[in-house]
Amino acid sequence: MYAFDVIGEITFSKRFGFLETGQDINDMMHHTANFMTYTGTIGQVPNLDWYFRIKNPILHVLRPTSNILSFTLKQIQEHEKSPEKNSRDLLSRFIEARQKYPDIVDDDLLHDYTNTNVAGGSDTTAIMLRTLVFNITTRKQVLDKVVAEISTVMKARPKDTDPDTPITWAEGLSMTYYQACLKEAMRYHPPTAQILPRVVPQGGVELCGVYLPAGTNVGCNAWTVHRDKQLYGEDADEFRPERWLEVSSEQAKKMEALLFTFGAGKRACVGKNIALLEMTKFVPEFFRRFEVRVVDAGRYRITSSWLAVQSGLDVYLTLRDPAALVAEV
Ligand code: HEM
Repeated sequence: MYAFDVIGEITFSKRFGFLETGQDINDMMHHTANFMTYTGTIGQVPNLDWYFRIKNPILHVLRPTSNILSFTLKQIQEHEKSPEKNSRDLLSRFIEARQKYPDIVDDDLLHDYTNTNVAGGSDTTAIMLRTLVFNITTRKQVLDKVVAEISTVMKARPKDTDPDTPITWAEGLSMTYYQACLKEAMRYHPPTAQILPRVVPQGGVELCGVYLPAGTNVGCNAWTVHRDKQLYGEDADEFRPERWLEVSSEQAKKMEALLFTFGAGKRACVGKNIALLEMTKFVPEFFRRFEVRVVDAGRYRITSSWLAVQSGLDVYLTLRDPAALVAEV
């Protein structure tokens, strides 16, 4: 709900309202999840999409993303009625691009930009947040170190700071151990479960000694890259944030550069920095506000389609006294 509402705020200056209501309004999240499952399967034989969705008039009407689509269409219409509002959101920039480059950006592309943002930036970020919360909470030593670091940050604040001030970007970045947890989470459980494809351009390419002609589909899967023992060590199958702190800073940079969580090259994720901002601020703030205990780690399941989505992450939350972390030794 948080991840969706943030995307709403960034894209349209308007939350979907999930956090306020605690409800999956109009089943928008449910439909997006279904669409990801559809994409994961049908995306393997993309021509089928033409028959199932695009060309088929009945199924076209039942498009699984329709609720998100109607929400975004409504936001575009509202924006066009009063363009002076919300001038810093992404929708305003997309509309600006349509005015500036009418030959490239038509109405369809404007809708695509907006919907891709919502679909691409919500579930992915939510998966990362769950990965962080589950893997930190179920490892006491890791959790203790993260909480100790939050406490250090709180103690370093000027005495008159309002205790409700959320953890800032700079504070989140200064938490070296938590940043190692973040990199480890991006390595251990990249949200995209499938190969990110590319098409070999004119002239072909030689990859690992094999010549591939133009038009060949090639790609990598983040899960296989990230579990490579030559890159990340013999214990690459384990969640161990310390691996990022034990190596030289040069080696850590190399390991980070090889992370494939956000893809690579020209089509790499455009929302990477927004996602890093969310993860850097949200998770420490969550652990600052609550003592978190997983109800039953055995219930945690990962189901893969286009995305590797978790279920069963139920937790007990106990509100922390904001002063407690400052007082803790
Ligand atoms: C942890 C969160 C996220 C993950 C793991 C993630 C992952 C990815 C991946 C793997 C790709 C394809 C890259 C490739 O083929 O090389 C992608 C593309 C994209 N992402 Fe993200 N993403 C995240 C968050 C976001 C956010 C917050 C936004 C928007 C604010 C966003 C918007 C997009 C868009 C628009 C594309 C398509 C880019 C293009 O085709 O040129 N993503 N993302």
